[in-house]
Amino acid sequence: MTGTWHNHHDYLPAAGHDLLLPGYDLLTRLLGMRPAYRALVDQAELYDGAQVLEIGCGTGNLTLAAKSAESGVDMTGLDPDPRALTRARKKARGLTGIRFEQGYAQKLPYADGSFDRVLSSMMLHHLDPDVKAAALAEAFRVLRPGGRLGVSDVIADEGTDPGQLAAAEQRAGCLNGALSQCQYSDLLQAAGFTGISITPTHQAEPGLHSAIVQAVRPAAQQP
Ligand SMILES: C[S@@+](CC[C@H](N)C(=O)[O-])C[C@H]1O[C@@H](n2cnc3c(N)ncnc32)[C@H](O)[C@@H]1O
Repeated sequence: MTGTWHNHHDYLPAAGHDLLLPGYDLLTRLLGMRPAYRALVDQAELYDGAQVLEIGCGTGNLTLAAKSAESGVDMTGLDPDPRALTRARKKARGLTGIRFEQGYAQKLPYADGSFDRVLSSMMLHHLDPDVKAAALAEAFRVLRPGGRLGVSDVIADEGTDPGQLAAAEQRAGCLNGALSQCQYSDLLQAAGFTGISITPTHQAEPGLHSAIVQAVRPAAQQP
């Protein structure tokens, strides 16, 4: 169970608590998340017919931004929170080639190699360290060889004093620890990814940066 303020789920809900979920979309607007969704979608280079998964889709903002940027993609948003999924489905009413399903990033209910892109926004830093590793391994498994991972997340600046980092994480709500660039890169490599790039975009708090993380599942080796 994720330990936070009166949270009785085994995941941390989008706004930290079920009662705050109705305000989540407004909060993302106030925090200026839309440009971050757009940047992630642009970097993913989506194309007509691409099978795209978002892990930890919450109320569907990034999944919908991807669909709106390239209407020919087949979008799947996955999240453990049924309340967030209900909101996402309402927002996607009338669209085709988009679905929202319940599940966990660390145990994806999809066959190996079923997606061309896996996206994630502001989710991985909430997970416990072993769950982060399992989620990245699952993203690798469901990507086809040559498929790409694109993540927006919060990373810790290298060498930040642990006390300062803990205080910054508390203010930013990253309850289970933001990784440094090196740690992120190590986890991605351990999952099998190559072509790793981690680009800090802006400072979220002293010691913490928002960043876009990209990685590739290597194409199959020729025999
Ligand atoms: C801060 S919200 C981000 C939502 C959305 N990606 C966005 O950018 O608006 C984090 C989301 O991660 C989901 N989440 C938490 N634990 C998860 C897990 N183990 N697997 C998948 N999603 C998870 C939460 O339910 C929540 O919707």
